[in-house]
Amino acid sequence: MADSKTAKLLINNAEFELPVLTPTVGPEVLDIRKLYGQADVFTYDPGFTSTASCDSTITYIDGDAGELWYRGYPIDQLAAKSHYLEVCYLLLYGELPTADQLHDFESRVTRHTMVHEQMHYFFRGFRRDSHPMATMVGVVGAMSAFYHDSTDIGDPWQREVAAIRLIAKLPTIAAMAYKYSIGQPFVYPKNELDYASNFLHMCFSVPAETYHVDPALARAMDRIFTLHADHEQNASTSTVRLAGSSGANPFACIAAGIACLWGPAHGGANQAALEMLREIGTVDNIPEYIAKAKDKNDPFKLMGFGHRVYKNFDPRAKVMKESADEVLDLLGVHNNPTLQVAKELEKIALEDEYFIEKKLYPNVDFYSGIILEAMGFPTSMFTPIFALSRTVGWIAQWKEMIGDPQNKIGRPRQLYIGSLKRDYIDIETR
Ligand code: CMC
Repeated sequence: MADSKTAKLLINNAEFELPVLTPTVGPEVLDIRKLYGQADVFTYDPGFTSTASCDSTITYIDGDAGELWYRGYPIDQLAAKSHYLEVCYLLLYGELPTADQLHDFESRVTRHTMVHEQMHYFFRGFRRDSHPMATMVGVVGAMSAFYHDSTDIGDPWQREVAAIRLIAKLPTIAAMAYKYSIGQPFVYPKNELDYASNFLHMCFSVPAETYHVDPALARAMDRIFTLHADHEQNASTSTVRLAGSSGANPFACIAAGIACLWGPAHGGANQAALEMLREIGTVDNIPEYIAKAKDKNDPFKLMGFGHRVYKNFDPRAKVMKESADEVLDLLGVHNNPTLQVAKELEKIALEDEYFIEKKLYPNVDFYSGIILEAMGFPTSMFTPIFALSRTVGWIAQWKEMIGDPQNKIGRPRQLYIGSLKRDYIDIETR
């Protein structure tokens, strides 16, 4: 990150020099940290469309080229050749593990998959019809009460234990939220199973019958986890960082991330996309929905389309689309009406001038719901699955921030457009 280059800024005839930071790859970055002190001005950037909030070594996105790398490794290679726990190691520690390191990491995660038994009672306090995301926000936040011995953020060992606990327990918590919502008993983790198989086991097995996890479905599940594992400074990750910048404990920070992810513009889009496909219903209705999406006076958006950073195909969507075809083939689902609507909608939108001009392509959420539905998950579980997959990214970003000596509390400023100072008026005279 060399800063020998500078940019000049002229404000009311006064000139200010701004260092220009050069990243490993990607656009150069103007360093405005001293601007307010020197020039008495703020910068204005709602939605952070032109602002880097931190430096990071974890994930890189080239939105124009449609590329996503975790620690330099392209997502398509990781999705094809690696698996989720290896990707977790890579995101957390920066390098691919050796066989011994991977074995050690996998056994540490595996040994933490159970949750404190008292948590079962905590779950029972929720209404049965709660959305599993609502339950997850509450339960993950409550982890700081159950695992108080890993909340001292100044202790690197406690930070490490918290990271492992979160990666290990989130699938258990997501599966429990699901089981609770359908009135079935909680299923304990089975540590002889791999991470994805274990999750499927906790979601779909019942005490009355033996459940065999299909290895091909477990592989597809693992790929969904991998594709969602991190995505640099998106809304939920920035939420985790901002919450963590105050010194809040990691469980509280991840709960904040889950809450942010839930929104339909972010992780909630996978549920919204599938519900939209169902609402469209048949291919004949597509033109009506395309017209609604293009109508400036209609708030409707095609869910699963568009992205703040990708202005070319979302590379995760490419892999997800292939995976959807494989899973549906495997399950013998060929005439699924939702899939037919999805394929036709994609085709029509990609040829439509509005979508071409605005560079709106299907994103990861467009296809993931089709796979998850075919696997037997209800739409309400789509975003919890995104949340458990993203937990490693959140925790890797949080650890990076806490370990950075330059870490400061996040505190944006504002462009105030309210009233000038005025005197209080007594109620009788208003
Ligand atoms: N359907 C129709 N029009 C759209 C869509 C869409 N899905 N997305 C963006 N546009 C239009 C938007 O109306 C705007 O038009 P105009 O310039 O005339 O005002 C233009 O395209 C630019 O959109 P924007 O809302 O300013 O872009 P943004 O970067 O602020 O928003 C987004 C990105 C993902 C929130 C948005 O595209 C969206 O709401 N998409 C649907 C929800 C979705 O699929 N979200 C999942 C994102 S990927 C997974 C994740 O990161 O969580």
